[in-house]
Amino acid sequence: MMKKSFGIVLTIAVVLLVSCSDVRREPGRVYMPDMAYSRALETYAQRGSTKFTDKPGELGEGKIYYTAMPVGGTMARGDELPFPFELDKPGDSTNYAGSKAYPNQYPNLTEGEMKEAERLYLVNCAICHGMKLDGNGPLYKDGNGPFASKPATLVGDPRYEAMPVGQMFYSVTYGKNAMGSYASQITSKQRWMIIDYIKAQQAGKAKQSQPTTSVDSTSGAKILNKDTTTAIKTNK
Ligand code: HEC
Repeated sequence: MMKKSFGIVLTIAVVLLVSCSDVRREPGRVYMPDMAYSRALETYAQRGSTKFTDKPGELGEGKIYYTAMPVGGTMARGDELPFPFELDKPGDSTNYAGSKAYPNQYPNLTEGEMKEAERLYLVNCAICHGMKLDGNGPLYKDGNGPFASKPATLVGDPRYEAMPVGQMFYSVTYGKNAMGSYASQITSKQRWMIIDYIKAQQAGKAKQSQPTTSVDSTSGAKILNKDTTTAIKTNK
């Protein structure tokens, strides 16, 4: 009996001793090594040209194809669909005209978003278009300012009050004559928010002076964007 339990304890002790050794005798097996050890790339680091290539012609020479570009036709999760109108070639205005029909991508701003839209307008646009959107900001100052070109009178000129949101988005995205592009300064969501703010201001003005100007100033919003009109109604 004694002998038997001694044998058991000895066996366990030996097994433990052997299995606790930290000397690795074999590296072990890895199934799909590319997945176990991913090829980490440092951001902005130069890719080793001996290993990586972005030339399809060098494929099959033991090199790894890597372009760092998203696959064509794909988009990031959560992104809105890209604006489908490219910048017109000089002398052409097909896309500028086509953008009129493009609907508002961010209608119905909440009260908080509308406040942020106003802030974005004041930061980015009011210097030219004016705090009251009258096209007479500090840079223009009735023609006495340093900016020679008259900015659009966003509130008070029927032409801009009837301008569809899609076309405004086109001009703010690509620029228009003396006004530069805002695509790199403000995100497309912010551009839509600013346009919602402009439309709300235009509608607010129309309410004050009914009925003479109400047709001009709201027709654009009504016909082309039902959603914008809803946003305007909820905005005080
Ligand atoms: C540097 C001055 C300047 C700034 C800043 C500026 N604009 Fe303009 N904007 C102009 C001028 C000038 C025009 C008139 C362009 C023309 O029709 O020749 C214009 C025209 C427009 C138009 C009418 C475009 C069209 O298709 O006729 C819209 C809409 C507009 N601006 C919106 C904005 C918004 C929104 C911002 C802020 C993100 C902004 N602008 C910032 C100078 C400016």
